[in-house]
Amino acid sequence: MQETFDTTRVEFDEETGIGRLTLNRPDSLNALSGQLQTDIIDGLRLLEAENDDRNGIALRAVIVEGAEGNFCAGADITEFSETEPGASSDPEHYEFIMDFPVPVIAKIRGYCLGGGLETAMACDFRFAAEDARFGLPEVDLGIIPGAGGVQFISRLANPAAAKEIAMTGEHIGADRARNLGIVNRVPDDLDEATQRFAETIASKPPLAIQAIKESANVATQTGLREGRQYDRRLFEPLLDTEDHEEGARAFAEDDYEPEFSGR
Ligand code: COA
Repeated sequence: MQETFDTTRVEFDEETGIGRLTLNRPDSLNALSGQLQTDIIDGLRLLEAENDDRNGIALRAVIVEGAEGNFCAGADITEFSETEPGASSDPEHYEFIMDFPVPVIAKIRGYCLGGGLETAMACDFRFAAEDARFGLPEVDLGIIPGAGGVQFISRLANPAAAKEIAMTGEHIGADRARNLGIVNRVPDDLDEATQRFAETIASKPPLAIQAIKESANVATQTGLREGRQYDRRLFEPLLDTEDHEEGARAFAEDDYEPEFSGR
């Protein structure tokens, strides 16, 4: 499946279960216009529609990247002047990615700034090229990152790193972003490593993967006791799944290759 929206391209590979969503406004370094935000959501909805009762969970992982060498240079500044600063920026696509039931991997080259970095941090994983540049430049426009950039970095790294990056507006490189915990990996071959990682996730039982995503998201918002109780509720229904049986069989039988369906 391949589909082109106004500002995104969407592909789905049936064989691997991997969806790919490309931010496609290269003339503005893929700046987040209102249309692009809508097209991200519509693209993810289209990918999710690959799942149906017959096929089980077909979509297993999504890679989000930017066209032509940059991830995204942040909110579209030309739309700022038309309305109140920030008012054109509908934050919904960030939540949509965070709540999306499938892992989303941001594959980052070039600039990843402002709302682009917030979009990447709403994803579950960030894989970056050595030349990637990260930053929250909003301070120089007299505003703050409106979609939670300071909150995200405070959790992924620490509050001091978040203050430094957001108050200076300076760009940092991929290695520093990885050392801080903002980026997962800076592989030598970004395409190959991201694809291999997506395939690994895609080969796992999708209901368990979905529950792990939910659990990790809850962990950033709750205490340990409540979080453990929450996990108990996620855990029990998984015991009744076909995929649990499939995994147990593969463990018991040496030469059995499990195939997980999401049931
Ligand atoms: N919104 C709208 N257009 C943007 C943009 C944004 N956030 N970021 C870049 N562009 C456009 C530029 O206006 C330029 O368009 P033009 O060719 O029609 O003049 C084009 O993308 C290329 O950018 P340019 O500035 O020429 O590239 P550069 O390599 O010299 O600099 C950046 C790259 C990312 C450092 C610089 O574009 C920049 O600082 N962008 C704004 C980043 C920002 O503040 N984002 C947060 C907004 S809240």
